[in-house]
Amino acid sequence: MCGIYGHIKKNGEENSVLVCLEGLRQLEYRGYDSAGIAGIVAGNIVSYKAVGKVSHLDAIVQASPRELDIAIAHTRWATHGGVTTENAHPHFDQNLNVALVHNGIVENYLTLRTFLEKKGIQFSSDTDTEVITQLIAYYYQGDFVKSVRKALSYIEGSFAIACIHKDYPDTILAAVHARPLIIGICHKTGDVFLSSDTNAFMGRSLDIFYLHDDEIAAISRERTEVYNKKGRKLTKITERMALENQKISKEGFDHFLLKEIYEQPTTIRRTLTGRLDSNKELPIFEELTVTDDFLKGISQIKILACGSSYHAGYIAKHLFEAYAKILTHVEIASEARYTDFITTKETLVIAISQSGETADTIAAVQNAKRNGATTISICNVERSSLSRESDSTLLLHAGPEISVCSTKAFTSQLTLLSLFAIKLGYLKGLAKNKVKELLSELALLPSAIEKVLRLESQIQSNSEKYAGYSDFFFIGRKHMFATALESSLKLKEISYLNANGYPAGEMKHGHIALISKNFPTVAFCGNSETLDKLLSNLMEIKARGGPILAFAPLSAQEIETIADDTLYLPETPDWLAPIPYAVAGQLFAYHIAKIHGTDIDQPRNLAKSVTVE
Ligand code: F6R
Repeated sequence: MCGIYGHIKKNGEENSVLVCLEGLRQLEYRGYDSAGIAGIVAGNIVSYKAVGKVSHLDAIVQASPRELDIAIAHTRWATHGGVTTENAHPHFDQNLNVALVHNGIVENYLTLRTFLEKKGIQFSSDTDTEVITQLIAYYYQGDFVKSVRKALSYIEGSFAIACIHKDYPDTILAAVHARPLIIGICHKTGDVFLSSDTNAFMGRSLDIFYLHDDEIAAISRERTEVYNKKGRKLTKITERMALENQKISKEGFDHFLLKEIYEQPTTIRRTLTGRLDSNKELPIFEELTVTDDFLKGISQIKILACGSSYHAGYIAKHLFEAYAKILTHVEIASEARYTDFITTKETLVIAISQSGETADTIAAVQNAKRNGATTISICNVERSSLSRESDSTLLLHAGPEISVCSTKAFTSQLTLLSLFAIKLGYLKGLAKNKVKELLSELALLPSAIEKVLRLESQIQSNSEKYAGYSDFFFIGRKHMFATALESSLKLKEISYLNANGYPAGEMKHGHIALISKNFPTVAFCGNSETLDKLLSNLMEIKARGGPILAFAPLSAQEIETIADDTLYLPETPDWLAPIPYAVAGQLFAYHIAKIHGTDIDQPRNLAKSVTVE
């Protein structure tokens, strides 16, 4: 969360303020509570700040435009301190000598703040970031790098920072600890750029390098130097990166979310492309660096993930156990990072993350690695921090997911995990004709999703009927349990309604106490193996007056005698049903949110990539 951008002009012609604004637009997915830019003009620090989205900052810049040759910029997801202009980055020391932007959390900020306040230093925000800024100014004795190194030596927690000092009008200092920051130098103009994410370099051809933990980069018009913790100069190897400008547009849809829901037949095809052998009879993953011999010997899998990615992992657990007969545990990464990670040489850790930047997932993988596990990450974003931590990465190829609420990445995760489970199954002795059968079922997924998309107006009618309720249960069994969890999360995050998922069998252990005519249950009936059991649960809800909306296969017509409303979805084998059912859940949530008039693509309080614990 929080995005950092920076620019120093050398021979280029662009105004640093406008370059930073463009960079912030690309980073806005990391937080949109406030945004700001600071630079140096005639030996003084100048700045712009705005509460809300980058468009608000843009309006402030347009109202009093300035030409800057150096600037640092930030888009904020609030951690310490409310969403106010005072708490917006960049932050300054009390004498306005230093300006600083920060991604991360300073865990000992209260101790440091108390120390500085005792020295008479006045604070003007509630943030942890201001502590770093004031500390740098406090230790400054004419050497900017030294003061930053000294200040950072007292910081506990995680950070990526970029800062400027008015005595160094052409220098940005940048440093990281457990947060990403990439520096790019334009080989044509010599202009320097820095960003939390390489995607914000889109449209530029740059020689880039990553800052590693505890390195400090001194970036100026003339040179870029990188030092380690002890002050020794390091040589960084750069890689040329030319990301073409991608036209990011809603393509006529009202929201990115709806566009991404509709992209799913295509994105699933892209996830599958190139991943079958020439006879289309076996899955192949050319990018895998772990060997088939290792995979053959795996005795347990641990899946680490958060949010929707966790739900994908939970569904995949059934596949690894059913087809590869490998004991599989799925753990929420924020918990797994603090567990005594028990691994053997035969443990495979699979980390799932759309962004590849989720702090907890990265930390959980580090924990697994410390304990000797082999790690594969499944990401949508290339060159992510998680990929760099993992032994091997499988990319989703779902294309940029702009909506904060995940849809196409989730279904591509499931697709890729399904294919990977079949591969492991084959290596573990699954019969070749079974592999063939599973692959041919998988190939039908895009058309199953197309059929669900054609049901949008029916789903919308149901959303209209149910939009007036403020509490929902989502239930399912086996493959449909985590599908229900995922669908309840979609509704919660974009409509701000209370929606909770649970495995239907748990109903009588407490949840049923809440059932009333004001508390509907959305039932996911796509798991034929457990359908009868689910129908009994629904009877029990009906008996207590709870409204029921069922998503069910056509073959389950008996549902009509129980549910108030039924939406029939295409017949899909149990193991793949989570994908079309999740799409139906996405459309249901989308239309309810639309009725409630929420900010669907950027829901309140959320950020696309959760880079703090
Ligand atoms: C929900 C959603 C989040 C993410 C979670 C993990 O729609 O998007 O729950 O799934 O924050 O993010 P990644 O997959 O980037 O690690």
